[in-house]
Amino acid sequence: MPYRHVPVMVDEVLHYLNCRPGGIYVDGTLGGAGHARRIIEQILPHGLFIGIDQDKDAIENAKEVLKPYSDRVNLFRANFISLPGILSQLGISAVDGILLDLGLSFHQLKESGRGFSFEGEEPLDMRMDIQVDQTAADLVNTLREADLEHILKTYGEERWAKRIARTIVWNRRHEEIRTTRQLAQIVCGAIPRAKKKNDRIHPATRTFMALRIAVNGELERLRYFLEDVVTQNDAAILKPRGHLCIISFHSLEDRMVKHRFRALEAGCVCPTRLPKCVCDQRPVMKTLTRKPIVPIPEEVARNPLSRSAKLRASEKIPYEK
Ligand SMILES: C[S@@+](CC[C@H](N)C(=O)[O-])C[C@H]1O[C@@H](n2cnc3c(N)ncnc32)[C@H](O)[C@@H]1O
Repeated sequence: MPYRHVPVMVDEVLHYLNCRPGGIYVDGTLGGAGHARRIIEQILPHGLFIGIDQDKDAIENAKEVLKPYSDRVNLFRANFISLPGILSQLGISAVDGILLDLGLSFHQLKESGRGFSFEGEEPLDMRMDIQVDQTAADLVNTLREADLEHILKTYGEERWAKRIARTIVWNRRHEEIRTTRQLAQIVCGAIPRAKKKNDRIHPATRTFMALRIAVNGELERLRYFLEDVVTQNDAAILKPRGHLCIISFHSLEDRMVKHRFRALEAGCVCPTRLPKCVCDQRPVMKTLTRKPIVPIPEEVARNPLSRSAKLRASEKIPYEK
């Protein structure tokens, strides 16, 4: 049975992606194909949609959900950093819009059985792409205490990272940590009681998020995409006035997007003391969202998973010789 994901900020995405009939649009994070369906409806009858996801469940699901549009849709099980290769495979040099909606789909979190959630008892896997070698269990059972602490602190912004890492290492000496419940209990045991009482989120939330980000190399992939894929050769992957929209759910991701968009807009990087520009760098993209767009309260009430979403958009500047 096909699954669905309630897409976040759909109207805002369609607006900032500038979806137009006949255009070519990429969704690099297909998930439950929620945004995909809405984008396709805007670009028919002659538009072309390219959907990418590294999770095989997402691609199988999208084949079903998007069947009515199959002649205008191309689906790829791949990482979004492979976009240039995918486009050349299709004989396409540039597209009108690219969407990345980072993070997890509802299916991955609640139904995949891959241990993304601390609720319930599942194997501690957390791979979006099951062809990847290393699982979350591998990390918690083999990493040095200092490396575990670093992951929890950096990716989870977990203030109790040191205590949690130490408790994980102590526990794994007695028994391998193989399931979500085991890990959640260890984390709860490592955090002082005061925090447990006052905190609105489950004590294991940050640990689970940090491990997921590490297992899937989420920040590295996003950085690579922003620095080496989309902006290669002056953002040649986007047509002039093509739009790039990125929805992030984590402050580190959002910061990375904000800084990259700013750098692409700035152009010249020469020190101000120089009388004239010697770097020859010019603005490549124009930021369309000075501040990130966030869901309205009604959307958060309807779909609590949208609460930390932030949308940023940028437009390719047409180059005049
Ligand atoms: C939040 S969901 C997307 C939901 C989708 N926008 C919708 O409306 O249904 C994120 C999806 O992106 C995929 N994903 C995350 N990082 C990826 C990457 N680097 N390459 C390809 N897919 C990725 C995940 O597997 C997941 O299915």
